[in-house]
Amino acid sequence: MMALGRAFAIVFCLIQAVSGESGNAQDGDLEDADADDHSFWCHSQLEVDGSQHLLTCAFNDSDINTANLEFQICGALLRVKCLTLNKLQDIYFIKTSEFLLIGSSNICVKLGQKNLTCKNMAINTIVKAEAPSDLKVVYRKEANDFLVTFNAPHLKKKYLKKVKHDVAYRPARGESNWTVM
Ligand SMILES: *[C@@H]1O[C@H](CO)[C@@H](O)[C@H](O)[C@H]1NC(C)=O
Ligand SMILES: *[C@@H]1O[C@H](CO)[C@@H](O)[C@H](O)[C@H]1NC(C)=O
Ligand SMILES: *[C@@H]1O[C@H](CO)[C@@H](O)[C@H](O)[C@H]1NC(C)=O
Repeated sequence: MMALGRAFAIVFCLIQAVSGESGNAQDGDLEDADADDHSFWCHSQLEVDGSQHLLTCAFNDSDINTANLEFQICGALLRVKCLTLNKLQDIYFIKTSEFLLIGSSNICVKLGQKNLTCKNMAINTIVKAEAPSDLKVVYRKEANDFLVTFNAPHLKKKYLKKVKHDVAYRPARGESNWTVM
């Protein structure tokens, strides 16, 4: 029974976590013609440290000279209008409990006082999943199916109303492609 279970390798990716309040994700509406040069991505991890949330951003193009560039987030914050992200090498981040998690924020790349490019993002729609653990696959002979169970830290968190997991599987031996459920 378990031998059959082990014959299958399973991969999960969480596509996105959607909060009940905010409706659909509003992904990066580019607002600047120069955006190509400074295109960037951001993701959040909520409640990483008590009530503190983490926002991480970086440029797509790792060759960009980031020396004088800053990231700033404005709007949908609790007590302040804007926050400037910290920088560690080419990664920008901020850990804070100021995110309102309702509505969307403007995240801008700044050169001095000038906004080079901005994206409008809702922090609660760009949540990056934490890796699942305790993955078990059991073949159920009677039903001729596989029962997949796993644990994921984000499942316990109160901000999550709806999580979608993608599951892909393939036989461990052979050349077959992944099948996505
Ligand atoms: C930047 O990278 C993100 C994440 O890898 C990707 O989703 C996005 O499409 C990229 N944007 C551009 C303009 O290449
Ligand atoms: C840059 O963008 C932020 C956030 O949208 C805005 O509050 C600020 O006024 C902009 N600054 C300039 C110089 O346009
Ligand atoms: C796997 O996918 C590739 C590309 O879609 C296809 O060329 C190949 O025939 C597939 N292999 C099998 C065993 O289905």
